[in-house]
Amino acid sequence: MGYHPRLHSEYPIAAMPIQPDAWARAARPGRRVGHTVEFHPELGSTNDRARAALEEPAGEGRAIVADLQSAGRGRFGRRWLAPAGVNLLVSVGLKPVGLSPERAWWLSAAAALAARDALAPWGSMAVRWPNDLVTADGLKVAGILVETAVDDHQIHEAILGIGVNVNWQRADMPEDIGSVATSLAELAAAPVDRVEVLERVLDRLDREVDGLLSGISPLQRLRSASWLTGRDVEVRTAGSAIRGIVVGLGEDGGLEVRHPGGLATLEWGEVLRVQERAGTAPR
Ligand code: BTN
Repeated sequence: MGYHPRLHSEYPIAAMPIQPDAWARAARPGRRVGHTVEFHPELGSTNDRARAALEEPAGEGRAIVADLQSAGRGRFGRRWLAPAGVNLLVSVGLKPVGLSPERAWWLSAAAALAARDALAPWGSMAVRWPNDLVTADGLKVAGILVETAVDDHQIHEAILGIGVNVNWQRADMPEDIGSVATSLAELAAAPVDRVEVLERVLDRLDREVDGLLSGISPLQRLRSASWLTGRDVEVRTAGSAIRGIVVGLGEDGGLEVRHPGGLATLEWGEVLRVQERAGTAPR
């Protein structure tokens, strides 16, 4: 699911203001990810600011947070819009990364697993390939956008962008979003402290990044967190659509789909439709 373009004024906004200085509570000096937090009331995209910060002293690992994005990006070049002061919009830049481009998916897997663990106090979530966080019912709570730059067959720069629906009520979401998404506040039936969410996300992300930079693959944990495994899907990939049952994730993090023509491993794609199979108990 992407957040489709709409004017911000179309959203009923239930902003929960946080004093700009309060975001610093989520920082941990000395840590690689989130040693400092840089807050902006409004930005184009936190991913763009995180990329620019990589050119500044101590820009690597700085958490860039915005209350509102005027040019927030989602996957597939879609816009990612959210009302001001309601959700968590954060990006962190890493440089150098030292991963081969074949392992770029480790970054998005690490971000998804970090967010999943961080958000667990508000509800149990799974990873819908490649890196959406969804409830057991498949409602989207968070999206992740990883952007990389490759040089000499190495990823030398990576931006990890995470958008979490925190205090956005489903009743306030446009229908096309509210029908497929929810928020932490909905799951908890209470307002949620966005600084606490950030603190937990940065803590888990720092650990995940440590792990992957030490060469530890996130694959096994991604497999056990996979929401699509066991479900009937239709996935758009490379200009065509494949329908079949997801049997798991391949060695390279691709989605393995058994379809009438055989077994396909999709390295990328967009899940268009999901249907539960009668008698199966998907994870
Ligand atoms: C998706 O599900 O399509 C990914 C959405 C990622 C949104 C986040 S919000 C913070 C960061 N800045 C952006 O412009 N995008 C990501």
